[in-house]
Amino acid sequence: MAGGKLQAPRGTFDVLPQDGERREALREASDELLGLAGYAPFETPVFEDTEVFARGVGQSTDIVQKEMFTFEDKGGRSLTLRPEGTAGACRAYVEHGMHKLAQPVKLRYWGPFFRHEAPQAGRYRQFNQIGAEALGSDDPSLDAELILLLAELLADAEVECRLRLSSLGNAATRAAYGDELRTYLRSREDELSDEARGRIDANPLRAFDSDHESTRAVMAGAPLLVDRLDPADAEHFAEVRAFLDDAGQEYDLDPTLVRGLDYYTRTVFEFDSPALGAQSGVGGGGRYDGLVEQLGGPPTPGVGWAAGIERILLAGAPGEALGLPVAYVAVTAPDHRLTAFKITDALRGRGVKAQMEQAGRSMKGQLKQADRLGATHVVVVGEQIEVKDMDSGEQGPVADIHELLERVAL
Ligand code: HAM
Repeated sequence: MAGGKLQAPRGTFDVLPQDGERREALREASDELLGLAGYAPFETPVFEDTEVFARGVGQSTDIVQKEMFTFEDKGGRSLTLRPEGTAGACRAYVEHGMHKLAQPVKLRYWGPFFRHEAPQAGRYRQFNQIGAEALGSDDPSLDAELILLLAELLADAEVECRLRLSSLGNAATRAAYGDELRTYLRSREDELSDEARGRIDANPLRAFDSDHESTRAVMAGAPLLVDRLDPADAEHFAEVRAFLDDAGQEYDLDPTLVRGLDYYTRTVFEFDSPALGAQSGVGGGGRYDGLVEQLGGPPTPGVGWAAGIERILLAGAPGEALGLPVAYVAVTAPDHRLTAFKITDALRGRGVKAQMEQAGRSMKGQLKQADRLGATHVVVVGEQIEVKDMDSGEQGPVADIHELLERVAL
């Protein structure tokens, strides 16, 4: 057959069987954690009208300007593979009249997202996020609850990280502050990088992100938004912090924290992990009190976060065995396979992870395979049935299936 070697597209990856279990364990842990806090499972399509992101994420962001996978469908509509989940969640909130439900509406999601970025370790073009959103209330306890849930999720996954926290105030304060910052940046325009200079009009805040040395020096003397918050926003931020302080959650107040999306108001936060190097953001989010309205809904506050699943797994501790018993059912000769099959099924019925020999191995090969699978017990099916405990090395016959299950199951 003609043709070159086929590979997964640039910036994408396959989840191989040996990596799948850690992902599944993370999913189960996060479902439980968020479920206990009332965040219901929720899904939106992986593509939306381009308009959802253009209006939601913001025209001046890198995401909308450079990173979206946008295409036309056969009817000439412009569609975009979702680069993030919040705009779609708000679109669904409006479309389904969720403002009529009891508020806040708490949602959680898990799935693939797409950004056309330069691939490197921890940065992909198709990646997965776990996210949580609470719509319909501006109660500062929600901001704190969400931050603490993400902190707990990351701690469970053994991700070493630090939390940066700030407040962006409201749209009017931001606009006035934007003017003040623009005036300041123009007064020192010569010292700025070309990129920062080019963004003075559209997005002056991004200058705080710059790696350019003299831009950084200019930004060190720049006015800060946290010093300009109006009293209600300052009070809201103080309340969020009081909840976090009371819970013993550590954070760094970082007035230069800039998130790459335009919809944020009030609280913003990000968890960074040194284990990730340049791509240090493992998860982040904030409040977006104007977004639902911007997408055509009634004025509705909202707050949430998303975290990169690959980044959590990259930065976290290598997965530990779950501590459940694992049984391997070996046969001394092929005519015992029927019994082995039945025993394997009975073990699974008792919550034991069990596999039988299915590749025609010799007894030696079967024991090696049991070892590879991390078996805690090997059941040897022959004229009689024996159970070997792999920890103690003890091996002995069992009288019947009941004794077998007692020996293997916890
Ligand atoms: P974000 O900070 O753009 O926020 O993305 C959240 C997380 O997704 C990042 O911290 C990172 O772990 C992961 N991530 C982003 N881009 C990539 C990539 N190219 N490769 C691998 N992982 C990536 C949002 O998406 C907001 N929707 C969060 C939010 C929810 N704000 C309020 N509600």
